[in-house]
Amino acid sequence: MKKILVIHGPNLDLLGNREPQIYGKITLEQINKKLAKLALAKKVKLKIVQSGYEGKIVELIGKSKDKFDALLINPAAYTHTSVAIRDAIAASGILTVEVHLSNIYSREEFRHKSLISPVAKGTILGFGPNSYTLGLSALVDLLNAR
Ligand code: DQA
Repeated sequence: MKKILVIHGPNLDLLGNREPQIYGKITLEQINKKLAKLALAKKVKLKIVQSGYEGKIVELIGKSKDKFDALLINPAAYTHTSVAIRDAIAASGILTVEVHLSNIYSREEFRHKSLISPVAKGTILGFGPNSYTLGLSALVDLLNAR
């Protein structure tokens, strides 16, 4: 069975209460349940981690290549700042899909640049929680086509 690492970056643990006009009312737990259900249907295994610590995310990705077939990541605010996470993805060479709940290009200018997109296979954004399920489906299709 293919294994996929799912990483949620900083403040995504606050979903449900956090700026609901932007991120909606769905909680991270509900998103994870949707992902788990899809993973079951698609016959893949998920490990889901949320962290607000850049170094922890970097280390997880660094160790991911031998343990996982692909990475689904919402780097949250680190999208726009983290050369370290970008380099970890590039160094590991792991197949990566980047997701965002909101459309970062329709928001403040500082969100318009993703340091992660150039090292991801693709990016899905703006569809709320569906960005995650669309991203997972895309990854599974890519893995099955290998
Ligand atoms: C986000 C967008 C980021 O700009 C922001 O810092 C987040 C969430 C999203 O999913 O829309 O924390 O990644």
